[in-house]
Amino acid sequence: MKVDVLLGLQWGDEGKGKIVDVLTPKYDIIARFQGGPNAGHTLEFEGIKHVLNTIPSGIFRADVKNLVGNGVVIDPVLFQKELEKLIPFNIDYKNRLVISKKAHLILPTHRLLDAASETAKGKNKIGSTLKGIGPTYMDKTGRNGLRVGDIFSPNFKEKYDVLVEKHVGILEHYEGFEYNLAELEGPWIEGIETLKTLQAVDSEHYLNDALKAGKRILAEGAQGTMLDIDFGTYPFVTSSNTVTAGTCTGLGIAPSKIGNVIGIFKAYCTRVGSGPFPTELDNEVGELIRKQGFEFGATTGRARRCGWIDIPALKYAIMINGVTELNMMKSDVLDCFETINVCTHYIINGEKMDYFPYDVNDVEVTPVLEEVKAWNTDLTQLTSFKDAPKELKDYVTYLERILEVPITIVSVGPDRTQTLETKI
Ligand code: GDP
Ligand code: IMO
Ligand code: MG
Repeated sequence: MKVDVLLGLQWGDEGKGKIVDVLTPKYDIIARFQGGPNAGHTLEFEGIKHVLNTIPSGIFRADVKNLVGNGVVIDPVLFQKELEKLIPFNIDYKNRLVISKKAHLILPTHRLLDAASETAKGKNKIGSTLKGIGPTYMDKTGRNGLRVGDIFSPNFKEKYDVLVEKHVGILEHYEGFEYNLAELEGPWIEGIETLKTLQAVDSEHYLNDALKAGKRILAEGAQGTMLDIDFGTYPFVTSSNTVTAGTCTGLGIAPSKIGNVIGIFKAYCTRVGSGPFPTELDNEVGELIRKQGFEFGATTGRARRCGWIDIPALKYAIMINGVTELNMMKSDVLDCFETINVCTHYIINGEKMDYFPYDVNDVEVTPVLEEVKAWNTDLTQLTSFKDAPKELKDYVTYLERILEVPITIVSVGPDRTQTLETKI
């Protein structure tokens, strides 16, 4: 057996949560491999909307295990809150959730460091979700971090105090940054006690044993390829590898064990936070897409920046991830348009290019747009792709031709049921 991977090809919020939930019945284990509570994955079914941050999106289906991998960073406070939100739905999370002993912990001081760093950056801020993601991964690579396995150790408190003292020392350099650590520590310690009641495992063994036993595994990405620490629009990125390779390091899966790679993208494009966005529509068209697509962050509520679909960026993401199939999300958001635009190339310093270059931060990038006839009709009631308007089918064929990968799912609404398979 191999591990299938599902990940975002743009700047996050492509609709990963929805599709993981749709695909879960085909799998035995859903495993998150990176990121943490900066993610906000939305699922909708039976009239209820659920937002997950650290918990994998398979949690609502019975008989499926949900693994939080070693590459994930966990905030015990937010994790506990997420668990509490499951209680009214009688989700047996103690049985369905498994956590890697090697996953790193977000400390209250990591969140403070994130906030202090962003404030100090002023207009150059990353636009972080302020969940402490960057500082936690810094401590991981700096070899200072605390891991889930440490919470069972008799000297956990000692390790915690050493790291906090280091952080307090760093915070002193941020002049005027005020905080009340004691207030944050109470809920954190409570969160640690809750974590202790969950199944902590050697997740690399857990997953590889499961593969040997013929179990089907889906790895769930967070953020998107253009936010990857290596390949994204650095420095306006997150602090983990959001790409397929992140599955190997974030779960302990060998590259030869990677199966299908499902790349998720919106029929247009969005970005939340700072950083370059070549196809951004800072006008009434962008405003209309935001309104139609309800483009506000699932984690922070911030308005998402909107723009046309960006082919050079998508091709880049497909290449880096080895995408084998594509899913196009939020097609219905474009229902009100008679024509839509596709960015096929960029012009940078007078040169026309169809690839994603090193620098898009400090140069002017002019998108070359191709106009495409749109469907201008309501897609949300469709139950079969066969009945889709010709213009939507043509848009799918056009994208498949330039992206050279089949589009297997077209999503026409947030609900589980509003999902059209194109190849059946
Ligand atoms: P994720 O982070 O990739 O899981 O995506 P988010 O949950 O942050 O953002 C996607 C948003 O779009 C959520 O509010 C979803 O409910 C919603 N959504 C997903 N697919 C569709 C779709 O096909 N049409 C519409 N209108 N909304 C969708
Ligand atoms: P999902 O999984 C969209 C963005 C932030 C900011 C940058 C760094 O829901 O798609 P961080 O908090 O990681 O230090 O922020 O990355 N960002 C996301 N944008 N979707 C996400 O996750 C994101 N997670 C982080 O807005 O620009
Ligand atoms: Mg999201």
